[in-house]
Amino acid sequence: MANEKVLVLDFGGQYNQLIARRVRDLSVYAEIKPYSTPLEEIKAQGYKGIIFTGGPNSVYDESSPHYTSEILSIGVPVLGICYGSQLISYMLGGEVSACEKSEYGKINIRLVKESKLFKDVPEKSVVWMSHTDYISKVPNGFSVTAESDDCPCAAMENEQKKIYAVQFHPEVTHSEYGIKMLENFLYEVCGCSGDWVMDDFIDRTVSELRKKVGEKRVVLGLSGGVDSSVAAALLSRAVGNQLTCVFVDQGLMRKDEGDFVERTFTSLFDMRFVRVNCGDEFLAKLKGVTDPEQKRKIIGTEFYNVFWNKIREEADGGFFAQGTIYPDRIESGKGDAATIKTHHNQVKMPDDINFEGVIEPLGDLFKDEVRKVGEKLGIPHELVWRQPFPGPGLGVRILGEITKEKIKILQESDAVFRDEMKRSGEEERLSQFFAVLPDVRTVGVMGDHRTYDHLIAIRAVTTDDFMTADWARIPYDVLARVSNRLTNEVEHVNRVVYDITSKPPGTVEWE
Ligand code: XMP
Repeated sequence: MANEKVLVLDFGGQYNQLIARRVRDLSVYAEIKPYSTPLEEIKAQGYKGIIFTGGPNSVYDESSPHYTSEILSIGVPVLGICYGSQLISYMLGGEVSACEKSEYGKINIRLVKESKLFKDVPEKSVVWMSHTDYISKVPNGFSVTAESDDCPCAAMENEQKKIYAVQFHPEVTHSEYGIKMLENFLYEVCGCSGDWVMDDFIDRTVSELRKKVGEKRVVLGLSGGVDSSVAAALLSRAVGNQLTCVFVDQGLMRKDEGDFVERTFTSLFDMRFVRVNCGDEFLAKLKGVTDPEQKRKIIGTEFYNVFWNKIREEADGGFFAQGTIYPDRIESGKGDAATIKTHHNQVKMPDDINFEGVIEPLGDLFKDEVRKVGEKLGIPHELVWRQPFPGPGLGVRILGEITKEKIKILQESDAVFRDEMKRSGEEERLSQFFAVLPDVRTVGVMGDHRTYDHLIAIRAVTTDDFMTADWARIPYDVLARVSNRLTNEVEHVNRVVYDITSKPPGTVEWE
């Protein structure tokens, strides 16, 4: 953990994680806590600064999130963003009113007073606004530092008390100098030195892990996804072959994926690698099952049993490690912005296994930080930047009954599609792309013969967060090549369709 840290106090805004990530990109450790966190707890942490996030409400709504105004007099610098800025005004006796015309989108602001927050920011610049209320009267002791055509107070401050407020969102990229403003807050106002550096993180974590683990053993469930892979590499650096990685290959992975994961970890890292191949057992359980939910349930239950049986064999009284990352923890229901989705990185442990403790070496990191650590530890680029892959694997991409033959057709098709996305350079701008086997046969013609064979659907989406997604506009000539190759190279494929459904109303996966 870094020595200095900043608190992002969450009032329910949609950008709370983005604010923390920006702060960390500026080399200062930031953590997010809900507005229900008691002041005493905040005081005890010794934060260098506090950032109030935006929020969906009006400060005058009874139900909107508030905080005791004492937080503004504990001597820690505060920056309020959007709702957070209005809240500061409200807490200190200023006035907030409804805008005649709400501001949304890119807006020009003018600086009207010199400010530490705006050091090296030009007098006029573009910021991102999204608000229906505004600060109509600043509290005593405050002065306006920026304005826009429709907003008399785009920013205000009390320099002496180190309280700053901006009506706009400096954390989003549409705000031209937003990052500079955050940097100014951290370094000019809070006096941070910038001690959140990934190299230090690795050294510090490795030495903490060594101390904690001692001579004991550690078992880790490795899925081949980014998080568990980076956790494995980090633990390997710390404790070498005291680490056992259990990798369950349920036969529903992409083509050659299981071998790739095994090769990577056995050749590059010091550890015991245990691979459990159980594809046939999974297929036997899935025989005749066509209902999507039932298939998911069976795959989930089987996985759970196989995984924990193996862990039980390997555990031997040591530690259990998992690749939980920071967003998994903030989503797990402590804050009000939480409970967005149930996460799958934290596995529920059976009651009969006793470990010395659980280790989550990436528990404080965002995904982009996990990737940085992964690259520094020498994990192949392909693995560090891999796209998300669902836990049930190809099981959610084969509609109807899952059979060995269908898995093979889908794996081959998916491999061809991925290869074309790589060659064409399209993969760089796609968030996720894959093939689906809808279990539909259609009539075709090949040479002089009639065929009656499988349809393959291809899916490619762009998204920031996977909550919503758009289908990717892949150029026609690239799609044409994919279609040609699929029908020529993959046996039993005679037709290809491209899925042009956004999410919503579709989901990314087909099941
Ligand atoms: P959907 O289909 O819900 O997918 O729009 C959103 C993202 O989540 C992934 N996904 C899963 N990941 N276990 C996982 O680990 C699952 O059961 C699962 N289902 C969907 C999906 O690949 C996409 O990235």
